Amino acid sequence: MWRHNMLLLLTLIVFVKCDMVPLKVLNELPNQGYSGFNSPKSEDKLKLRMQPANFSGPDYLEKLIGKCFKHRDPKYEYVFCPFHNITQEDIQAFYEPYKGVLGVWGQWDIKDNQFAAMEMLEGSGCSAGRHRSTRVAIKCGKVTQLESVTEPDKCRYAAVFKTPLVCGINAMVVYPRLDAAELRERWDEASTDLYNQEITQLGYDNELERIFQAAGLRLSPSDLSSLMQSAQQEDEGTEEAQGGPGSCQERLTALQTRVQELEEEVKVKEEKIVELVIAAEEGGHQDD
Ligand SMILES: *[C@@H]1O[C@H](CO)[C@@H](O)[C@H](O)[C@H]1NC(C)=O
Ligand SMILES: *[C@@H]1O[C@H](CO)[C@@H](O)[C@H](O)[C@H]1NC(C)=O
Repeated sequence: MWRHNMLLLLTLIVFVKCDMVPLKVLNELPNQGYSGFNSPKSEDKLKLRMQPANFSGPDYLEKLIGKCFKHRDPKYEYVFCPFHNITQEDIQAFYEPYKGVLGVWGQWDIKDNQFAAMEMLEGSGCSAGRHRSTRVAIKCGKVTQLESVTEPDKCRYAAVFKTPLVCGINAMVVYPRLDAAELRERWDEASTDLYNQEITQLGYDNELERIFQAAGLRLSPSDLSSLMQSAQQEDEGTEEAQGGPGSCQERLTALQTRVQELEEEVKVKEEKIVELVIAAEEGGHQDD
């Protein structure tokens, strides 16, 4: 029996003539004092495309603001900071590991009158002009932890976060947590109308969406664009400080984005190679 060990190594070195930016443009080697989000060095390389939305949901979850939870699988380390961001870092890479934002806190996914998951939106660029996003399901568990992160669809991640905070029977029920009586009345009316078949299921769902937006639990298109704008304005502020548009910093950011895209391609090709090797091993088995 023999086994292939394939190592695909793509090292991209980008030189930018730049007086204003430190030469080390990407990340530190992963084995040099690896310290995740505590390290200002690895942190300041990640920019959020969107300002995180305001806190919303059951108020005892406010305890989680400003805290971060890690999960590692063999290839990546993920860091989830509830009501702020979720990031991913390649811990296997030999050099210049990929580090990206998987999403920024945006809104609740509400299912059957329950706060089911946090939707983390507008992460780092993915393939074909899309951006990564993550649905973080919130479940009852003995300890507070980020239990798993997977990528069921390309650029669409699914995470499971467990905490004892949500173990009570009514801990994640939405209706009683609508502050405004007026919104609860609208919900009652919509339920009655649905029951009497005066509105369709779609009409009911649309009315609930408007109620949740009014309650600040979900983002309207204009909420979303103003959060995106706030992040951009912050960015421009920094750019001006660093020499304005067309500056070194801007070209550097463009190159970093390109490197991220190439890394994404490499990831896809690596997976393809592993598939081919497995197929070849299975196919060639009889000849051994
Ligand atoms: C977030 O909170 C601030 C301050 O309370 C408020 O001005 C702003 O409108 C809120 N944003 C959204 C999207 O609700
Ligand atoms: C992610 O959220 C944490 C906790 O709020 C914060 O300290 C960190 O700076 C955020 N990361 C980015 C890239 O903004």
